[in-house]
Amino acid sequence: MIKITILNDTRNSRKDIYNNDDGFSAYIEVNNNKFLFDVGPNDNFIKNAKKMNIDLGAINTIVLSHGHFDHGDGLEYFNKKVKLIAHPNCTYRRWWKDDHSHYSGLKLSKEEIENRFDTYFTKQPYQFFENVFFLGEIKRKMPVVLNKWALENGDNDEILDDSGIAINTPNGIIVIAGCSHSGICNIVEYAKEVTGNNQVLAVLGGFHLRELGEETNKVIEYMRKNIKEVILAHCTVDEVCDKFIEELSGDIKISVTEVGKEYIYNNM
Ligand SMILES: [Fe+2]
Ligand SMILES: [Fe+2]
Repeated sequence: MIKITILNDTRNSRKDIYNNDDGFSAYIEVNNNKFLFDVGPNDNFIKNAKKMNIDLGAINTIVLSHGHFDHGDGLEYFNKKVKLIAHPNCTYRRWWKDDHSHYSGLKLSKEEIENRFDTYFTKQPYQFFENVFFLGEIKRKMPVVLNKWALENGDNDEILDDSGIAINTPNGIIVIAGCSHSGICNIVEYAKEVTGNNQVLAVLGGFHLRELGEETNKVIEYMRKNIKEVILAHCTVDEVCDKFIEELSGDIKISVTEVGKEYIYNNM
């Protein structure tokens, strides 16, 4: 059985129960293996897990989608020394380009992260549980334009650390992404290559689509042709979500997630 529970998301209609801030964190069980995919910007994921009766003490692995604060600063609040899987560039110091005072990287330094966790930094795909793959550096077959972020030396930040995971099931792969700065279609295509499975059961994540237009339309058409279920999260703005629902309803299963949502796939 696969169970995915959203611990932090940009959307939260249950503010009376759950805490949330912009960012993403999910708790995932694949049979007996339990892990976190992203930890959000603070300790919301821990507070919400408690309210959901999820025992985070039982996990032994955290996967980081990429090194942006809204996906990784929660690391500071996680006190168990577990395995941390990510792309090596995730500890880069980085900023929003138009405002060098606005830091967008992780608060903890590489050294602090290495002291707190058993780090496994890799650019290569890595199977960390049976049928569960960290994708490593995504092959960007379809071009992505990234010109909003800069590294410490002023160079453009291509966010090469932006990755995701794929869970291989007999009914197709489930792909989970954080922000999809690498392009969600590139991530899904690479997940197919890594797992050797061309069927895609579901895609869940932030697609980093901030406006309507050509890019959003391309992703919608890709999803229509290739995916059975799409669950929109985090950095996919409302008008884009509305467009996805308008265009894809009836063709595929489509929804927008929020804190507290749970997705169960019984086909493992
Ligand atoms: Fe994000
Ligand atoms: Fe990001």
